[in-house]
Amino acid sequence: MEMPSGLGDFDPTPNNLEAFWMPFTWNRGFKKDPMLLAEAQDMHYTTTEGKKVLDGTAGLWCCNAGHGRRKIVEAVQATVAKLDYAPSFQVSHPLPFELASRMTNMLSGDYDHVFFCNSGSEAVDSALKIALAYHRVRGDAARTRLIGRERGYHGTGFGGISVGGIVKNRMFWGPLINGVDHLPHTFNLEKQAYSKGQPEWGAHLADELERIVTLHDASTIAAVIVEPVAGSTGVLLPPKGYLKRLREICDKHGILLIFDEVITGFGRLGSSFATEHFDVQPDLITCAKGLTNGTIPMGGVICRKGIYDAFMDWADNTGNTIELFHGYTYTAHPVAAAAALATLDVYKEEGLFERAAELAPYWEDAVHGLKGTRHVIDLRNIGLIAGIELESRPGKPGARAYEAFRKAFDAGVMIRTTGDIIALSPPLIIEKSHIDQIFETIRTILTDLD
Ligand SMILES: Cc1ncc(COP(=O)(O)O)c(C=O)c1O
Repeated sequence: MEMPSGLGDFDPTPNNLEAFWMPFTWNRGFKKDPMLLAEAQDMHYTTTEGKKVLDGTAGLWCCNAGHGRRKIVEAVQATVAKLDYAPSFQVSHPLPFELASRMTNMLSGDYDHVFFCNSGSEAVDSALKIALAYHRVRGDAARTRLIGRERGYHGTGFGGISVGGIVKNRMFWGPLINGVDHLPHTFNLEKQAYSKGQPEWGAHLADELERIVTLHDASTIAAVIVEPVAGSTGVLLPPKGYLKRLREICDKHGILLIFDEVITGFGRLGSSFATEHFDVQPDLITCAKGLTNGTIPMGGVICRKGIYDAFMDWADNTGNTIELFHGYTYTAHPVAAAAALATLDVYKEEGLFERAAELAPYWEDAVHGLKGTRHVIDLRNIGLIAGIELESRPGKPGARAYEAFRKAFDAGVMIRTTGDIIALSPPLIIEKSHIDQIFETIRTILTDLD
């Protein structure tokens, strides 16, 4: 099999799968019966056995322009040959300056700076740190509490798991960071089942923030962080009016609002970011994944006007004072920045965000066409995202969906599961025939599954 250039004589057939401790994986199951991907192009992966698999998940919600995109590959190749690495502590290189401008220009709100990092988890930690430090440099140092949400996923750093709301991601790591509280999640099967797009019921759940403010006092709260659409816990959509209400309550109490847009950024909802889609402007936006189309790790925090300024106003400018004591060796890595710039070109040249918006109604019909299929208890959709909730097997949560995932892979479609929910998020270049294939495959598998 021909391998991508750069791998030389690498033998793609592993003979020992033991040493790699795989993340968020049933390692023993995988190693008995591995699924190994060797190549990717456009909408498809090819396994090491030469089997084609349709990508129903854009990798891990990241390859929004599809795979093997020439322009991005060439940008990566050219940049690594020209400037393999440059630090961004006290010196830098031109690419992140252009990238940051282009990212802020993608938004209609008043966003004016971007802090770069290497992943969604780092973007979340960076945003939480910027929020805490922002209050402090403005002389409001008592604002140290962070408010997350049940069923939230914000990556796996200590900041992210502290504000996150997934028990298994939290329970092994002691008290986590101090002073965190959680909003209730917004999902209610009874009230919202089979909603097309945003559910009507649930905006009032934002008022729980008032309860939390009453408990702790606003003067102690730095920021609220939510995913505008919760992805990793099974596609939970914001009820109509919910995000606006959160914004209003944060404004009323001087609390920063952070949208974690690691999955909703870069066209997933049919607009550049969820902030555009929902017309709600948070103070900080985290992003990653689709920023480089998944090719090279990169994340970022997009800041609303006033955030960066607060640090500039605070720090002494007569010496050489660093304004923010935070950053990473690979912040704004040249190869990642080049991949991101090329990715933004592809999104724009091919009108992929508009394409996602145009396909969304067809996608919605396909998702809800599964109503009545065996085991299905709810269907959720927005943009090019779907959540298919299955009834769990008694005493075996997650087992049914995992089996569906495995069978779908064998049938040539990659889906993703979380608990007993199938989550879909295909590349935005998807064709209607691929959509039909994904849902037909799922229907057949569920019909035959115990
Ligand atoms: C909303 C959200 N935030 C943060 C992350 C973490 O990103 P990463 O895995 O790049 O650290 C994810 C990953 O899925 C995510 O969905």
